[in-house]
Amino acid sequence: MKKWLHSWRLLSLFSVMALLLAGCGKPFLSTLQPAGEVADKQYSLMLLSTAIMVLVVIVVTIIFVYVVIRFRQRKGQENKIPKQVEGNHKLEITWTVIPIILLIILAVPTVKAAFDLADVKPMNKEKRDKDTLVVNVRANLYWWEFEYPDYGVITSQDLVVPTNERVYFNVKASDVKHSFWIPAVGGKIDANNDNKNQFWLEFDQKDAEKANGIFYGKCAELCGPSHALMDFKVKAVPREEFNQWIEKMKNAKPVVTDPVAKQGEAIFNKSCIGCHAVTPVDKRPEQARTAPNLGNFGDRERIAGVLEHNEENLKKWLKDPESVKPGNKMTGTYGQLTDEQIDALAKYLMSLKVE
Ligand code: CUA
Repeated sequence: MKKWLHSWRLLSLFSVMALLLAGCGKPFLSTLQPAGEVADKQYSLMLLSTAIMVLVVIVVTIIFVYVVIRFRQRKGQENKIPKQVEGNHKLEITWTVIPIILLIILAVPTVKAAFDLADVKPMNKEKRDKDTLVVNVRANLYWWEFEYPDYGVITSQDLVVPTNERVYFNVKASDVKHSFWIPAVGGKIDANNDNKNQFWLEFDQKDAEKANGIFYGKCAELCGPSHALMDFKVKAVPREEFNQWIEKMKNAKPVVTDPVAKQGEAIFNKSCIGCHAVTPVDKRPEQARTAPNLGNFGDRERIAGVLEHNEENLKKWLKDPESVKPGNKMTGTYGQLTDEQIDALAKYLMSLKVE
């Protein structure tokens, strides 16, 4: 009796969890709401394999139930031993051939998709077409750098891409292994430190509008205490808007007029500029780029990738980065700042905008 009660409790717990977790599907963060060519392909493969598995389970269950009922022991025949049979060519061929056919049905589109999704020839051409967009992604403990090599522009944390075209990525890491993942737009790819991985994604304009233009990106490889906080955002905009953004980024330079922000700039130039650049055009080699580029910090979606983007949270981050992102590389790199200095810094950083 007790055992029964226990299993019922477990069962209801699982049902509640299933219901709760089903609510986690957000259009900007769900592989089940694909938003582009890659995600569509991967989603249809998921559907196909699930359909095949469900079919097999149904057929096997029906045969199983039939056999259990049809050949059960009947009253009065307790001692009857049925006719003993061994080997049946027809059956054996059937249960060998059917799985082979099912596997072929699954394998052909899977292999085809694998080759399609790995087609990065356009990005590796000797002379790249003008409208082939390449982004170098560099993963770091716990932030992302996005470099547009053909435009000489660098940004961090917020990736900006044009919609309805293939965007090609060079993905690597500069410290430990990470993994670059935009769930709604396509499968993840490893960010390694000893090689460069290449792939492409396509961001659908209609789906981008549904998601208010922002897709969520995650690090998908356990990399340290703040792995779960190593988020980034993707702003997917029409090509024209993207071109305008690139132009603004190319020419962006901090223009500080506010007197408090000016004080902030002075503090920044003393304590922060060794690691952080404030112009999107940063010609230094990547080893020198040890912290996020802040060229368009004021336009960002989040503070430190996770907090809502406002001055209050920026001050919290500047005051005690460790409380926001444990294990981050900024903690302890600058001296204690007074509240006044933090206010000035926050004003200055929020003024770094291109939009
Ligand atoms: Cu980077 Cu997990």
